[in-house]
Amino acid sequence: MSKLEFSPQEMKKMGYQVIDMIVDHWTNFPQKRAATTASRGEMRKKLSQSFSETPIPFEEMLSILQRDVFSNTLNLMHPKFFAYIPGPNNFIGVLAEAMAAGFNTFSGTWLASAGPSQIEWDTLHFLCKQLDLPACAGGIFVSGGSAANLTALAVARKQKLNNHINNATIYYSDQTHSATDRALTILGFHDKNIRRITSNNSHVLCLDTLEQQISEDKQNGDKPFCIIANSGTTNTGAVEPLNAIADLCKKYKMWFHIDGAYGAAAVLSDQGKKQLSGIERADSIALDPHKWLFQPFEIGCTIVRDVEHLKNTFQILPEYLQDAHKHDKEINFCDHGIQLSRSFRALKLWLSLKVFGLKAFREAIDRGFFLANFAEQQIQKNPQLQLITSAQMAILTFRYYKEGLCEETLNITNSAIVKKTIAEGVAMVSSTVLKGKTVLRFCTINPRATEEDISETLGKLVEYGDEF
Ligand SMILES: Cc1ncc(COP(=O)(O)O)c(C=O)c1O
Repeated sequence: MSKLEFSPQEMKKMGYQVIDMIVDHWTNFPQKRAATTASRGEMRKKLSQSFSETPIPFEEMLSILQRDVFSNTLNLMHPKFFAYIPGPNNFIGVLAEAMAAGFNTFSGTWLASAGPSQIEWDTLHFLCKQLDLPACAGGIFVSGGSAANLTALAVARKQKLNNHINNATIYYSDQTHSATDRALTILGFHDKNIRRITSNNSHVLCLDTLEQQISEDKQNGDKPFCIIANSGTTNTGAVEPLNAIADLCKKYKMWFHIDGAYGAAAVLSDQGKKQLSGIERADSIALDPHKWLFQPFEIGCTIVRDVEHLKNTFQILPEYLQDAHKHDKEINFCDHGIQLSRSFRALKLWLSLKVFGLKAFREAIDRGFFLANFAEQQIQKNPQLQLITSAQMAILTFRYYKEGLCEETLNITNSAIVKKTIAEGVAMVSSTVLKGKTVLRFCTINPRATEEDISETLGKLVEYGDEF
């Protein structure tokens, strides 16, 4: 009877092979393609062999992984990867992931994981402190921004509506990430509850329109209960007027949620902190360490102004967990969110903050701001590029431009440029649409990127545009 086990020698041998493969990737990824993709048919042909009853040697499987699996991905750590939100991972995070899996701690209850729970608590409180939240603030680590927003909005629904949605209304700009739309659908909200407000020319919520809509809704018997603000939109990096929105929430007794999945981590740096003024007034915040805190996927977090609100929303005490719940005075993270079985996600952030030190993180965040400003200057110097939105929170948008080309042709050309970057694999940018214009978008949070990486990538984009 197989016990699914190996001898210590075999485990070490396989472990060293894996670490060799990872370190080899880390040494060579800047020379690899920034993007590789393939059709479903090609992948099926390479990978979809049936599972066999008999074992396959580990080495053979590693070769398949290296040749056909990890090679057919976007290279999110690549110094010329400026698309979407890059994934500039750190190696301590990688080792922490291995340990979290290796010790397989169950991080749902204090009984099961007193040590990991303390680390999760401390790491969350470190973030709360950076955000200038009061001592009663707290949170939970989740898989990412989608789960973090969902968790926070579940808390808002409970605290403000006691889960009675009926005529409740919630407000956010049309620049808000689709994760929020999905979260609200999951939480049972319908179109009639949702006010997706057209953003102004700076791509942020227009306060007058927002307040007008709130008072109209109140007059019509609706119950405005929550405003969501972005502290770094995905499209342009724009930070919405957090203090003014906090004032509105106070005036109308509404919940103030901030989607800071992308940008909130920048509070660690002085520049970021200045731009995020008002974030400390939020009732809840989504913040993703797997974005601008350089962690491997998956780690996001939901932070709430009063940690008791998480417990009020999520705690259920079934009889089969009664032994675990005797530790209620400590902390059972299953009471803070939707997961009972949870991995030790906090470890990677905690360990990398400790090993690299905070200064290294602050500098790495600042580098993102610097590179975005550098890219902006380069774009402004180049008559074939047109800056569309200035660098904000390390994101900027621009387009290939040629005098005399109509808007439609410019849109088509800029989409074609992205297609060509993926095909060529030298660099990676993504496109988006702003007020009807197809634009290219740079997100420069990867501290490994150099000024040359930016200039060379811009040069390539112009070359692809000219060719098209
Ligand atoms: C502002 C914002 N919110 C939410 C999300 C969703 O986060 P995740 O992909 O980690 O679920 C993203 C992802 O880019 C984002 O930029």
